[in-house]
Amino acid sequence: MLFKQQALLRQKLFLLGSLAIGSLLYLVARVGSLDRLQPICPIESRLGPPHLPEQFPLRTLQYKRGLLHEIRKGNATKEQIRLHNLVQQLPRAIIIGVRKGGTRALLEMLNLHPAVVKASQEIHFFDNEQNYARGIDWYREKMPFSFLHQITIEKSPAYFITEEVPERIFKMNSSIKLLIIVREPTTRAVSDYTQVLEGKERKNKTYHKFEKLAIDGNTCDVNTKYKAVRTSIYTKHLERWLKFFPVEHFHIVDGDRLITDPLPELQLVERFLNLPSRISRYNLYFNATRGFYCLRFNNVFNKCLAGSKGRIHPEVDPSVVAKLRKFFHPFNQKFYQITGRTFNWP
Ligand code: A3P
Repeated sequence: MLFKQQALLRQKLFLLGSLAIGSLLYLVARVGSLDRLQPICPIESRLGPPHLPEQFPLRTLQYKRGLLHEIRKGNATKEQIRLHNLVQQLPRAIIIGVRKGGTRALLEMLNLHPAVVKASQEIHFFDNEQNYARGIDWYREKMPFSFLHQITIEKSPAYFITEEVPERIFKMNSSIKLLIIVREPTTRAVSDYTQVLEGKERKNKTYHKFEKLAIDGNTCDVNTKYKAVRTSIYTKHLERWLKFFPVEHFHIVDGDRLITDPLPELQLVERFLNLPSRISRYNLYFNATRGFYCLRFNNVFNKCLAGSKGRIHPEVDPSVVAKLRKFFHPFNQKFYQITGRTFNWP
């Protein structure tokens, strides 16, 4: 009898113990989950405005890149576009110039980033009256299809020097990011001349020598009416832009360094665009035949820029080069001062 009572008591004690442990475990779990369900302040208000994710699903993006390529070639169906929520977005960043600064190389290299989609053609929306009159929807329709988290970038180097453009871009998006790629001003002017010269030669036309265009024959001073010279006075153009956009909206890219060592320049742009660093040494390789860095997207797809990029410049009279360098010097100093980026230009 006593033995039976003891067994019953042990059973009761065991049941009570189990209940107590169970309740304790439930309480711990509940408190934990309560903590997670009711944060001190809602997460949204603690985060800044939505920005691009730190981690991109790379595999998905590679697949998506394939699809984007098909769309560009006109092979994707409307159904595929709808299914993948593809949209034509206005650019969130524009390479506004400078002509012959390396604008094409910069755009193509940025396009290596999985979150960037480039508008392949120069759209010339803001600098061309006819195009501008077509309206913003026309502009949007010129943009490539992209996923919502991607940013579209276009480049039209004429924007930098065209009077009306800053105000027009401001009206479209006052918080847009603006990229300006510059080269040593005299080299850029010669590059500009070389491009025009090639065009004339193609049409069997004769053209003046650079020296004749860059120097005023009457005064022997630098000819500031010559467009290739005017374009290289970077500070004059930038000052017009600064009437509409604060200096933080601009990022200056060193076009000379983009030629010799592109990666650090691209990493600075990634930071400026708030993109996680994704372009790597793997994506850029030096092609000795071409004399430039070329682009590697993956094991099978790589490309160099067209032959029209990287022309051989004509020899220029050293006294003219010296005169031009002296002429640009004070403008360069002002440009460094405004932008906070100094170059070793003479
Ligand atoms: P040159 O033809 O004077 O050498 P833009 O695209 O603005 O017209 O600039 C053209 C310049 O981009 C070329 O000027 C070239 O030097 C420069 N560039 C920079 N990186 C390049 C690259 N990886 N391949 C070819 N050209 C490049």
